[in-house]
Parts: sequence; C-alpha cells; structure tokens
Amino acid sequence: MDKSNSPGTVLITGSSTGIGKVCALHLERAGFRVFAGVRKETDAMALEKESSGGLIPVYMDITDGKSVRSAVKVVSASTGGSGIQGLVNNAGISVGGLFEFLAIGDIRRQLEVNVIGHARVTQAFLPMIRQGSGRIVFMGSITGIMPQPFLSVYSASKAALEAITDSLRLELRPWNVPVSIIEPSIIKTPIWDKARDAAHRTVENFPRSAHELYGPAIRAVLNVLDHPGRITRVATPADKVAKAVVHALTSDRPRYHYIVGWDAKLSYVIAKFAPERMRDWIIMFLWRRLGLKDEV
Ligand SMILES: NC(=O)c1ccc[n+]([C@@H]2O[C@H](COP(=O)([O-])OP(=O)(O)OC[C@H]3O[C@@H](n4cnc5c(N)ncnc54)[C@H](OP(=O)(O)O)[C@@H]3O)[C@@H](O)[C@H]2O)c1
Repeated sequence: MDKSNSPGTVLITGSSTGIGKVCALHLERAGFRVFAGVRKETDAMALEKESSGGLIPVYMDITDGKSVRSAVKVVSASTGGSGIQGLVNNAGISVGGLFEFLAIGDIRRQLEVNVIGHARVTQAFLPMIRQGSGRIVFMGSITGIMPQPFLSVYSASKAALEAITDSLRLELRPWNVPVSIIEPSIIKTPIWDKARDAAHRTVENFPRSAHELYGPAIRAVLNVLDHPGRITRVATPADKVAKAVVHALTSDRPRYHYIVGWDAKLSYVIAKFAPERMRDWIIMFLWRRLGLKDEV
C-alpha cells in the first residue's frame, strides 16, 4: 500500500463489460486509482463517463505482446516509479462445445486468452507489482474446481489458473506478494449472450457425424443457451465478485481462494467432499433440470 490514504493504483483487464466493469467502478469507489483495460475506444469513453475521475482506460489486448508492453509503458509513466498495488487478471472468453468436435483453433483461442494472456500480463507487470508492494488477483471460476460438460476447455483454463495462483503465491513469498483467485459461479453478464452466439457458430461447423452422435444433446444445450434466463435466474450479482476483489486487494489477511455465490459454495463442497460418482450424478441431475431431460 502507498503511504497516502489511497489504497493505491490497480490495473484490471477486461473492463469493458460484465464483472470487469463492475469491479473497476467498485475499486474506484474504494479509493483506488484504476487503470481499466479495454480494447475499444467506445468502451473507454463509456467507462470514463461512469467514472468519477479516478479511472483511466488503458488499451490492452492480453493476447498481443506489443499491446501489453505499451500498456506497461502507460501505467509506468503515470505511476512514476512507485509501482502498482494491484493487478486483477479478469479478461476472459468462454468457448463451449462437445470436446470431441471442438476445433483445435478454438481450444487454442480459449487457452490463449484465459491462461496465456494472464501469464503475459502478470509477467509484464510483476516488476511494477514488486515496486509497489502489490497483490495479484486472478478471475477463476468454480468450473476450475468442478468442471462441467460442454465446457471442458473453459473449465480447463480455469483449473490452470487455480494451479498458477497456488504456485505463484509460493514463488512470490520472498517479496510478500499475495496472490488470490476468485471463484464465482453464475454471474449475469454479456458472457452468456456471447456463449450462445459462439455455440450456434460452433454447431454450424460441426461435421455430420457430430449431429449423428450427439444430436439430442446438441439441440438441448442450444435450447438452454437460447433461454439464458434458465441459467441466470440463480445468478449472483457481480457486486459480490467486486467485494471479494476489494477484500483480496486491501485486507491484512487476503484469502487465497474466494468462492462467490451460494451455488459456487455448494459446488465447492460437492467437488471436495462428495464421492466422484455422486459428483457426476449431481452435475448431470442439474443439467437435466436446466432442460437437457434425458438427452445426456
Ligand atoms: N459471468 C459468469 O457467470 C462468470 C462466472 C465465473 C467466472 N467468470 C469470469 O469472469 C471474467 C469476466 O467475464 P464476464 O462474465 O464479465 O464476461 P464479459 O462481460 O464477456 O467480459 C469479458 C471481458 O474480457 C475482455 N476480453 C476478452 N478477450 C480479451 C482479450 N484478448 N484481451 C483483453 N480483454 C479481453 C472483454 O473485452 P471486449 O469487450 O473488448 O471483448 C470483456 O471486457 C472472465 O474471466 C470469466 O471467465 C464469469
């Protein structure tokens, strides 16, 4: 923390919409100077409009080394060598679909954004985090602990973040840099609409054999995604995620893992303590309740 009353400077990636935007505005209200990662000018302008002066949009595509390096320069110039007090690795995409037929390019894109992108940003900002006695927060997901069917690679990307969080925290012990991960369950954000559109595109590109093998399941999953209310009716407000992020960045005793939402807590207990077969049964029971009936 810096020596003034302000908790300092934080950078958050993926602030144009959803959880990132809510967190950026929440962090600003908590007194942070917030560098909010965006990719479009319109998103930068919209954020500035909602900010009360403590939020600075910074252009960054986390899959592009040049873009990340130029963001480092912007933040570094503005902090004048005092470093940053927080990095929130929030940006993410969700690639869904049947594992057997997912295009390798889509699998790579999922991991490129949700894992490699965060690695790139974290490596690039670590010198400034060290300078500023800062902290690191990753935006995981409960699917990293309890993976879901049709979300195998998304779940894998979040499981990778679990491992990186727990390894990195130990590696950074000599500099006392806390590293935490947030594990929300269902939060109502544009990610669900994007997932629906992407799923339709993916299914259009499936070979005929995919439809022959998995036809009823494909139709049922699309049906669920076409009615996002079925999923988001149990959603937790994004504010709760933002509160966890603020706690991770300001508490004297930040937690290693923040499980956000009642359904995430329930999933955590099932994943950790239920016998494996029972866990699978519960997951499929919940998918059937969503509308998959006997298709899977
Ligand atoms: N919503 C949920 O139910 C839920 C649950 C658990 C975890 N999460 C996680 O929470 C995080 C935020 O998701 P969200 O639900 O708020 O989704 P969202 O509204 O779709 O936001 C995703 C953000 O990531 C940004 N992004 C995507 N690719 C990027 C790239 N290559 N470089 C930089 N930024 C990029 C997007 O920017 P553009 O607008 O420029 O594309 C957007 O700002 C993700 O990591 C997600 O996995 C979400």
